[in-house]
Amino acid sequence: MRLRNRHILLGITGGIAAYKIPLLVRFLKLEGAQVGIICTENALQFVTEKTLSVLSEKQVLTDFFDTDTGEWNHHVNLGLWADLMVIAPCGSNTMGKIVHGMCDNLLTTTIMSARCPVWIAPAMDLDMYQETSVQENISWLASNNYKILEATEGPLASGLSGKGRMQEPEEIFNQIIEYFNPSDTQWHKKKVLITAGPTHEPIDPVRFVGNRSTGLMGISIAERLWELGAEVELILGPTHLEPTYPISVHRIETALDMFEKCKELQPKMDIIIMAAAVADYRPENVAIEKIKKQEGKDFEIKWAENPDIVKSLSERKTKSQRIIGFALETNNSKENAIKKLNNKKLDCIILNNPSSKTGFASETNQVIMINKNGDEIETNLESKQEIANIIVNKLHDWIF
Ligand code: CTP
Repeated sequence: MRLRNRHILLGITGGIAAYKIPLLVRFLKLEGAQVGIICTENALQFVTEKTLSVLSEKQVLTDFFDTDTGEWNHHVNLGLWADLMVIAPCGSNTMGKIVHGMCDNLLTTTIMSARCPVWIAPAMDLDMYQETSVQENISWLASNNYKILEATEGPLASGLSGKGRMQEPEEIFNQIIEYFNPSDTQWHKKKVLITAGPTHEPIDPVRFVGNRSTGLMGISIAERLWELGAEVELILGPTHLEPTYPISVHRIETALDMFEKCKELQPKMDIIIMAAAVADYRPENVAIEKIKKQEGKDFEIKWAENPDIVKSLSERKTKSQRIIGFALETNNSKENAIKKLNNKKLDCIILNNPSSKTGFASETNQVIMINKNGDEIETNLESKQEIANIIVNKLHDWIF
């Protein structure tokens, strides 16, 4: 599922190559992508709306307004939804419109509103393709941040043979996979240890003290690194979640278990990311039998301090090892995060605040990343998978 949670918006214009796009939709869906489709009116002469909507599991958009419900297909929202927009096949008409800022249909309007990369796969007959105006439009698009998936040579629907064929769906698909999972990333073969989830500190055989962490943030980072070819070891506290990929997972219960596992794995690691919500204290004595209620009496626990795992790992880290911590703060957030960054001798700290939409047990998050040189970035509120992607990309810039 190399495109899990990726939003790919396909634009289809009128051209015979449109008949190949259902295959591309199928490939993208099989890799877990969410696929939105906008067709021009002419595109639907070459491929059916039904085929596309069945394969994409979404309504195909053609107009500014839904003819059944009257609802507005908001081009700005579509443009913001997309992580990548691919116009395939793209005829000379649509290219000309983009170059000249003409927004007379939903497709060109959305292209103009998109914040994500827009790729264009031209397709037309060979003489049209060679036409100076078309070539000038292609050059203009290429030098204005549009990626051109250059047409290829071969037999054309007209019976002629030459340059003008849309790249095959497989080729377009492979480039999309490479874009989201670059093979030249430095994460390839890097050994990364990630801790995630809560720890549970037992009181007696049936009771424990824990926290609300689900481990989703750490698991999402582990999954993204796995997709990029890193060799990932995940130390995971008690949670119902687990990674979707065959990542090496070490299940632990307590902070002391986590500490032992970290010490064991640390020497082989290039990078350590401590996303776990580790309990700072544990009950000093764990009762062997279930503690009985003592009517009329309060109950007290004596707490022993747990080791600060990440601090201890930093003290014994090798010169080339990099250690990244998290900080969960409710007040003076940045000041406290910077204190932790320095005190725990981290290379980078990722700060989050618990709220209904961020932090523990939430599907979304918003973080500030600060490195030891004082560089800083702040993300928007995004799914934890997208935050993981941003974290991994920024660490790539900062670490390598
Ligand atoms: N951490 C750790 N061992 C602990 C406690 C925390 O390794 N016993 C790590 C966490 O995994 C995280 C970082 O330290 O990467 C900061 O954790 P946080 O809970 O925000 O801070 P604490 O150091 O526990 O300080 P406080 O609870 O006072 O904010």
